[in-house]
Amino acid sequence: MGRLIKVAIAGLLASLLVTGTAMAAADGKNEAVKPGKDSPLDEVWSGYHFAKKETQALQDDDFDNPGNLWLEQGEALWSKVEGESKKSCQSCHNDAKASMKGVATRYPVYYAPWKKLINLEQRINLCRTKFMKTKAYKWKSNQLLGITIYVAAQSKGMPTNIVLNAKNKPFWEKGKKHYYTRRGQLDMACAHCHENYYGGQIRSNVLSQGQINGFPTYRLKWQKPGSVQRRFKGCNKQVRAKPYKIGSDEYTNLELYVRWRGNGLPIETPAVRN
Ligand code: HEC
Ligand code: HEC
Repeated sequence: MGRLIKVAIAGLLASLLVTGTAMAAADGKNEAVKPGKDSPLDEVWSGYHFAKKETQALQDDDFDNPGNLWLEQGEALWSKVEGESKKSCQSCHNDAKASMKGVATRYPVYYAPWKKLINLEQRINLCRTKFMKTKAYKWKSNQLLGITIYVAAQSKGMPTNIVLNAKNKPFWEKGKKHYYTRRGQLDMACAHCHENYYGGQIRSNVLSQGQINGFPTYRLKWQKPGSVQRRFKGCNKQVRAKPYKIGSDEYTNLELYVRWRGNGLPIETPAVRN
């Protein structure tokens, strides 16, 4: 199996072709974005661009997009009163359309009390434990996926916008190192697949740039949405490397770095991928 991937990768150079002829969607998710300063990429593309036509169509149709079931669940949770403090998200944040607009374009952020990064799911759970005085949602729960999709969807169409500063840069550096480190039995780094060979075919998939502008993303393979970090885990496993834990500092640093690589890409949550 591992050998097969290696062979496939070796063959990629020869067959490398970027499907740049695909029809451009009006909302920009099928268009190349000009990379920002210091980006290692010549063009920045959403995973949408590399997805099959049928998968793109599923995402585009509000009735057919299966991720919208979680979006609706998240919307209902927004105003659900819970915990000792008898509050809902809405009690403090009012209308999500205004208060959560743009939030997903700039997470993970540096969180001073932790002296490290916090991602969107962790931020939501912190509001639950600290302010609502109720339990944190589990990582793979429909509730956490739903509320995260609902919060992220308030930034739909807005460009990813990670701004590096003295606070987040050290964590970005760690994420970058992770991205370029070879690991697993296949001895491959994220960059091998998602920077060097994107656009090429790997088994039945077209390799994308591994961007995260559509997360939490509904995956046909999972039959439900999954978080960015669940996806990282899967990619670690593909090269037979021991994955880190969802919510680990390693993955949250990597999440900041990968989000930065996608600067300019419109948020598509909930995206659909296979
Ligand atoms: C009791 C009030 C309260 C409740 C209830 C509450 N939050 Fe918060 N939330 C805050 C405060 C205060 C902040 C800013 C904290 C800070 O900057 O340290 C915040 C920050 C956030 C942020 C980050 C916003 C940004 O601009 O970076 C998100 C996302 C968020 N909350 C989501 C939620 C969700 C989802 C819920 C419901 C599950 C919720 N909050 C419930 C008070 C609350
Ligand atoms: C052996 C090749 C390979 C390696 C190495 C690899 N991936 Fe992937 N990755 C894939 C394939 C195949 C897919 C599914 C098709 C696609 O979107 O590229 C994928 C998908 C993804 C996606 C989902 C993209 C979307 O649009 O939803 C992300 C994010 C991602 N990878 C991140 C990473 C990160 C971070 C690393 C390093 C820890 C990594 N990958 C390492 C092969 C790889």
